[in-house]
Amino acid sequence: MIIAVDGPTASGKGTIAKALAAHYGLPHLDTGLLYRAVGRQVFLDGGDPDDPADALAATSFPESLLADPHLRSEETGGLASRVSIHPVVRQALFERQRSFATQAGGAVLDGRDIGTVIAPEAEVKLFVTASVEARAERRWKEMRGNGSDVPLDEIVAQLHRRDARDTGRKDAPLIVAPDALVLDTSALDREQAVTAAIEAVEGMMPAR
Ligand code: DC
Repeated sequence: MIIAVDGPTASGKGTIAKALAAHYGLPHLDTGLLYRAVGRQVFLDGGDPDDPADALAATSFPESLLADPHLRSEETGGLASRVSIHPVVRQALFERQRSFATQAGGAVLDGRDIGTVIAPEAEVKLFVTASVEARAERRWKEMRGNGSDVPLDEIVAQLHRRDARDTGRKDAPLIVAPDALVLDTSALDREQAVTAAIEAVEGMMPAR
């Protein structure tokens, strides 16, 4: 069984994907991390994230980079969003995601285009979303917990920029797959969101 979890940044899709993987005993791939590694590698190379050739060169990042704590920063998220608009970058990362999705026994993948491009045949597709205000507040709390005090309105502006780029790009934009179930987590805490996701999956799962 393939479970595709797509959605915008800070929607809770990563938390939900991880919880679903643990619940169903499936391996999980956070595909955003691959784009973040490319963004970070371009930066380390002194390249230009908006240049397709520089971004493509960065797709051969070393595996060890995936454990780099810098990948989690908002700066790297922004770089990831910029490199992800290049079709050559998406193509270079396609096979790795595709083979993870199609491994024997199934898998959970979260990202932006899992249910539309990487695994359109996924039996279960969730589109996790939340209002910009709810997402900004979560991000703000998380950042404060990490000791950085960015004003809430700056985070709202960052989210708007990132959403515009992720939904506006030509290649594999962030859209709701026609057969996806939309889960709005605005009014849910972590536990409620996970419970709602499991219920949604149970409803979509093929009979076993
Ligand atoms: O989910 P995330 O915030 O870690 O993703 C970072 C960026 O990577 C996101 O803004 C767009 C890009 N991305 C993508 O284009 N396709 C994916 N499947 C996952 C992420």
